[in-house]
Amino acid sequence: MKKLFVTFILILFTIPAVSLADGGSDYKAKCAACHGAKANLLPKTARLLKVDPKKLALKASQMNREEMIAITEKGKGKMPGFEKEMTKDQITSTVDYIMALRKK
Ligand code: HEC
Repeated sequence: MKKLFVTFILILFTIPAVSLADGGSDYKAKCAACHGAKANLLPKTARLLKVDPKKLALKASQMNREEMIAITEKGKGKMPGFEKEMTKDQITSTVDYIMALRKK
């Protein structure tokens, strides 16, 4: 009975891990804390990080896709790089998600 319970818990943890392959959920899991759910201005986070809120507004960013991918990999200023914890595919699809938000 205990084994069954453990298996059940393990399955529960695997489901979100699989769905993490799409940019939207990676964005929410890894970027939204600082950049906001909709990549809008986040004055409070900006104050905590002591950065210009405009720098966090990815939606308003003028950067192209390649520059965004490079910053996501290497980080910039107070932003950590993600190349160790995300695959190139994950980073690319997260940036594509941001690009799509920008068009809205
Ligand atoms: C710990 C907070 C934090 C997290 C988490 C974070 N960022 Fe950032 N990000 C920043 C800060 C601060 C800047 C501004 C850096 C600067 O210009 O000094 C920034 C800047 C950027 C920029 C450059 C925008 C521009 O126009 O200058 C991109 C692109 C970016 N982040 C993408 C991402 C992505 C994608 C993720 C998730 C994988 C992410 N960030 C997670 C804090 C964060």
